[in-house]
Amino acid sequence: LKRVRKRHFQRARDTGVPIVGLTSYDQLSARIFDEAGVDFLLVGDSAGNVVYGYHSTVPVTVDELIPLTRAVASATKRAFVIADMPFGSYELSPEQALTTAFRFMKETGAHAVKLEGGVRSAEQIRRIVGAGIPVMAHIGFTPQSEHQIGGHVIQGRGDQEEALLADALAVEEAGAFSVVLEMIPSSAAKRVTEALTIPTISVGAGPHTSGQLMVWTDFAGFSGGRYPKFVKRYADLRGVLTDAVTAFRDDVASGAYPAAEHEYD
Ligand code: KIV
Ligand code: NA
Repeated sequence: LKRVRKRHFQRARDTGVPIVGLTSYDQLSARIFDEAGVDFLLVGDSAGNVVYGYHSTVPVTVDELIPLTRAVASATKRAFVIADMPFGSYELSPEQALTTAFRFMKETGAHAVKLEGGVRSAEQIRRIVGAGIPVMAHIGFTPQSEHQIGGHVIQGRGDQEEALLADALAVEEAGAFSVVLEMIPSSAAKRVTEALTIPTISVGAGPHTSGQLMVWTDFAGFSGGRYPKFVKRYADLRGVLTDAVTAFRDDVASGAYPAAEHEYD
């Protein structure tokens, strides 16, 4: 079982066989996804919503993400593990970005880091890559800028397409090994993918990319509430768990649990 490497992302770009990723925040899900052959696991700052119950990714800190990233990295044998750099941990300067990247690499066992922003983050990417750490870039809808953007708004439409392309070219030129395209029209993702030599990873950016990534609690129907249009729900974990806990509660009330087979002599 050989570890997925940076070169396997490039192979996906060059052969057209897409690479597949999910987010993960704990060892239970990481082990299942790793054994099922998911190529890469992102310990996303979406942990802010999913794990910590915040209303956005804005409040998430490095100290909150490090233990989750360590748990995911420790649980995998094959998957390439990417640590997401949270809001406020890299924007000040390339030095701040590298200091944060060092923390994730030294304290968690992750294989790469991810940060948001195109042109505005190029110097940060260049500095981190220069120190020997692979960087996944992230452009299009960037959740850490939600309040600047004005909500969960599709990016790269119409006039915005040129700026999106400039962001993509900037992160490639800065040395990113791949770039996430989040919530953009498929036509824009196709254009960006054709313009780049590095792989593009779609999060709601359609099929014309080198790979697909989804938040695991969304793809498994565990999140609840509203799901974005691009999410395909492959399971109803919320329904399964609700049924299970309801049955447990009823069994305890009726005396059906515990039964004789659950008792010690
Ligand atoms: O934090 C996250 O889960 C992400 C992906 C959705 C790209 O950044
Ligand atoms: Na993120």
